[in-house]
Amino acid sequence: MTKRQQLYEGKAKKVFATDDPELLIVSYKDDATAFNGLKKGTIVGKGIVNNKMSNLLMKRLEKAGIPTHFTKELSDRETLVKKVSIIPLEVIIRNIAAGSFSKRYGVEEGFVFETPTIEFSYKNDALGDPLMDEYHAIAMKLATKDEIETIKKYAFGVNELLKAFWAECGVTLVDFKLEFGRLSDGSIVLADEISPDTCRLWDSATGEKLDKDRFRRDLGGVEDAYAEVMKRLTQHI
Ligand code: TMP
Repeated sequence: MTKRQQLYEGKAKKVFATDDPELLIVSYKDDATAFNGLKKGTIVGKGIVNNKMSNLLMKRLEKAGIPTHFTKELSDRETLVKKVSIIPLEVIIRNIAAGSFSKRYGVEEGFVFETPTIEFSYKNDALGDPLMDEYHAIAMKLATKDEIETIKKYAFGVNELLKAFWAECGVTLVDFKLEFGRLSDGSIVLADEISPDTCRLWDSATGEKLDKDRFRRDLGGVEDAYAEVMKRLTQHI
């Protein structure tokens, strides 16, 4: 598949056109940002980990009945994906309190929820991705009521599948962010990535953080953490 013009450059990925109007190439960078781009850095090798991890997990989700944009891994950093129009909502599932949830509600990190939670943020950098109620998302025509229901069903399904899989790897899936898009026929598929950038992953035995919080919070050992979760994943997939 020939790579054509660059269509978009985000904080962690670039997107290129191909000869097929329904397919795009995503290229993963080592650039890392946090706090809406205020903190910037590089995590050496992150692009390779995120590309490969995302692809392995999406393939697994596809087999379990969750439609995704994944098409074919082209190289260490590049993947062919189906073209979607992204629904501008960050879909966050939580199993354990951490991050902004702990801050907002004054709940200690590590508090295990009775049942998983879901929340939406409006993808809008200028506004700092504010939390958004689903009725507001529907009112603003970001998605229809039916689309929101489909997204919720897929997101909780992804949680059950990934929670079980990460547990086999000795990793606790604390929370994660998903993005969904519409194919040209209007159907909803999982898009973007699933990686240590977008998930909180804690070592099940020690509680050690094995994700981007090491970068966000200056904990050190960032590259090692990404390599460690990738190693565990490839040993169990
Ligand atoms: P939060 O606790 O900061 O709201 O983050 C919840 C989850 O979403 C966590 O796994 C990290 C992920 N996330 C992203 O993927 N992108 C973002 O911009 C933010 C703020 C969080």
